[in-house]
Amino acid sequence: MNKGSTKQRIAVFASGTGTNAQKIIEHFSSHPTISVDLIVCNKTGAGVLGIAQKFEIPSLLIDKQKFEKDGYIIELKQYNIHFIVLAGFLWKIPPILIQAFQNSMINIHPALLPKYGGKGMYGARVHETVLQAREIESGITIHIVDEHYDHGKVIFQATCPVFTADTAETLSTRIHTLEHAHYPRVIEEILEKRNSNE
Ligand code: GRF
Repeated sequence: MNKGSTKQRIAVFASGTGTNAQKIIEHFSSHPTISVDLIVCNKTGAGVLGIAQKFEIPSLLIDKQKFEKDGYIIELKQYNIHFIVLAGFLWKIPPILIQAFQNSMINIHPALLPKYGGKGMYGARVHETVLQAREIESGITIHIVDEHYDHGKVIFQATCPVFTADTAETLSTRIHTLEHAHYPRVIEEILEKRNSNE
């Protein structure tokens, strides 16, 4: 892509409330070279679908069997998507989609990988495990998506303290604040770097 010629188009995949999706949409709403053009969701009635509607971004509600079979690659091509951002997306990404978006798909995990990641480690479970282990620090990890859960190359980490009085809920709130502060900015840095290398 020539510098500044076309926008780099992002699809955000989310399964739940979508607070990160919203921050990302807001961050790029009037960006000159990057835009959020599609929300992909696997759950009817998920909060993120309402956010897509509010910001007038098309959304795609996906079916598990089709996702595992063809990764919705044709649909993503129709929207001319260059980059995939996972923001609380709970289905495993099929190999076909990982291959199609090699080094062009990232995830955010609400802990300091490689600790507290892997299958079943999502939502409150992550924070409960961190608290049970009496960690004094937790944080966020942004990483490339590969074929294993929470496994690809780490791009960015940020930390926050864990207090003895914390519950999974208070820790989750602190982690969300960290995610909102960094995820949109890190995405922008990655895409601007790619743009200037192309
Ligand atoms: C975030 O904590 C993210 O790290 C994890 O799922 C959560 C999604 O939260 N992968 P939200 O729906 O963006 O509020």
